[in-house]
Amino acid sequence: MSAERDVLVALARETCATAHAPYSGIHVGAAIRSAAGALYSGSNVENAAYPVGNCAEASAIAAGVRAEGERFRIAETAVWAVDRAGSVIAAAPCGACRQRIHEFAVGGDVAVHFPAQGGTVRTVSIDELLPYAFELPSSR
Ligand code: THU
Repeated sequence: MSAERDVLVALARETCATAHAPYSGIHVGAAIRSAAGALYSGSNVENAAYPVGNCAEASAIAAGVRAEGERFRIAETAVWAVDRAGSVIAAAPCGACRQRIHEFAVGGDVAVHFPAQGGTVRTVSIDELLPYAFELPSSR
């Protein structure tokens, strides 16, 4: 595992501890290294009105946009997920979060690290995770 990937995965793992996930019990952390070289993180925040909750990736992206504004781009990202007992669970970003990552991916394609079966780290590019991503005609 590269040192940069180690740092990002460790940050995503730590950030699981800040989740608000009383309904699913799935605590997710996301970490982003921006194109500018800064690190951002976020966790999932659930709500009693279930669809109102938001994913960890959305929280991390919001932190990046808040800090860097329109310049914010993702160079590399990691997610991690644990259950109520704190055990790692295999979890790739959901479909909506793949679209969120695509929106900010520097150069259009970035590495996404996530836990696979047994807690091993899998790395897949956002283009592989989300082929034929939606884009407005004006941004093509
Ligand atoms: N979740 C994320 O935070 N990111 C994903 O990519 C998939 C799902 C959260 C949403 C919800 O709080 C919990 O995981 C269980 O679905």
